[in-house]
Amino acid sequence: LNSNLFIINFKNYDEISGTKSARLAKSAAKIAKKHKLKIVVCPPQHLLAEVARSSSDVYAQHLDNSKVGSTTGYVIPEIVKKSRVAGALINHSEHRIPSNEIEDLVKRLRELQMISVVCVQDVSEAWVYAQLNPDYIAIEPPELIGSGKAVSKEKPEIITESVKAVKKANNSTQLLCGAGIVSGTDVSKALELGAKGILVASGIVKAKNWERAIEEFALAFVRK
Ligand code: G3P
Repeated sequence: LNSNLFIINFKNYDEISGTKSARLAKSAAKIAKKHKLKIVVCPPQHLLAEVARSSSDVYAQHLDNSKVGSTTGYVIPEIVKKSRVAGALINHSEHRIPSNEIEDLVKRLRELQMISVVCVQDVSEAWVYAQLNPDYIAIEPPELIGSGKAVSKEKPEIITESVKAVKKANNSTQLLCGAGIVSGTDVSKALELGAKGILVASGIVKAKNWERAIEEFALAFVRK
């Protein structure tokens, strides 16, 4: 298996509502198998279990740091794990949480042997949160999210500097990057700059042909 990571965040785009999330996850699983690549999908909370029934690479878009038991309406690590959810994004730009909660969630996920992906907006945050030793730090300049202008082309230095910040923490954390990635060349550029993988939403979810778009991205990983 290729050691890179390709994460597709479905967000709440209308394109993935209802049964369409499972369909997109199926396309991702097919291409992942074909290219021996790890492709993770992040459907909305209420579809996690349904998608995880047929895909082993499902992460939550967000988790709450609430306890097991009487915490109505919160979505928590211990419970999603039992529906085969393997990890989670933490502190996504569109769903930021306080730093003490980030710290608790990274710890909780590690104890549960789930994968943690802490999202950050700049290099200094990358450094701060890399010290918690999450599995991944994902750097996403907020102004490029959904812009179609790739972080790897617009802000290459933010990737190289984040790679350094994460290395400085001297643990097993690895760097992903995201925001505005829409093509195979954007992916190749990110990998060349030292990212271990990517986080993408609109570039896949809004593509006319999901399979073709996922394949274009996958080939960039395979050819690197
Ligand atoms: O989680 C990934 C996301 O924030 C990037 O969004 O639409 O620019 O790929 P997009």
